[in-house]
Amino acid sequence: MSRKICITGASKGIGKAEAEILYADHELYLQATSLDSFQDLGLPNAKLFACDFADLTQIDHFVHELKSQTDTLDVLVNNAGFMTIDSFQHFSETLMHRMITVNLEAQLLLTQKLLPLLLKSNNPQIVFMSSMSAKNRIVGESVYAATKAGIMQFAHVLRNELAGKVRVSTIHSWGVNTWNDEADAAILKPEHVAETLQFILSRERPFLVESIELGHESHWNGAKAPWSPEL
Ligand SMILES: NC(=O)c1ccc[n+]([C@@H]2O[C@H](COP(=O)([O-])OP(=O)(O)OC[C@H]3O[C@@H](n4cnc5c(N)ncnc54)[C@H](OP(=O)(O)O)[C@@H]3O)[C@@H](O)[C@H]2O)c1
Repeated sequence: MSRKICITGASKGIGKAEAEILYADHELYLQATSLDSFQDLGLPNAKLFACDFADLTQIDHFVHELKSQTDTLDVLVNNAGFMTIDSFQHFSETLMHRMITVNLEAQLLLTQKLLPLLLKSNNPQIVFMSSMSAKNRIVGESVYAATKAGIMQFAHVLRNELAGKVRVSTIHSWGVNTWNDEADAAILKPEHVAETLQFILSRERPFLVESIELGHESHWNGAKAPWSPEL
């Protein structure tokens, strides 16, 4: 059955792959920082929105625009986000603030503001794009991991608060080759995450995918310690 699905960060990478896989069967509401970001999208019937989550004041305008197109929503996919790697000692304060705002605070605000639309659906779902960084100790990802762990824990509580009303799921992925580098071919592709989202959304109530971890057979998965034997 066709559903109204809002995907943030849908102009490229994982969000774009998610939009492409869902497009044929659903009504899509897609967001990126600017409408120019959608130049390569090629999904003519999707409704497109611009909102820079680094500026939280833009969220009200985005929600207003969305509400002018629809008064209900079946699915919200909180995907937009970014990662910068640096040692915490040298991490720029501006970047730290931006990452916490975009990856964490904006997702909470958007979710709260779109909940009234979701609650009008008879099968609402919210999916958060967290990361395996939230569950590991990857050097250089301290701030990113903090935002993704924040999202993970927020989603856990929200799932319980909304139990019986809105199904809340979280995807935790190891590295996804959103930069299309051949040298990184042996990690996940955006399509793998998109297939996972499709699976989560196609489960019938009351079954709920609470949280799912995605890996790649060839990925190091943080498993090799200095004392690990050569295999
Ligand atoms: N790639 C990975 O290895 C990986 C692994 C685990 C989790 N994740 C998570 O998955 C999500 C998507 O990652 P990706 O690799 O697909 O990223 P990506 O290819 O860089 O795409 C990011 C998307 O988010 C949007 N976005 C970025 N900053 C934004 C802002 N300030 N305001 C509004 N929208 C913004 C971008 O819009 P514009 O095009 O307009 O900039 C774009 O649509 C992120 O939350 C990321 O943390 C990624």
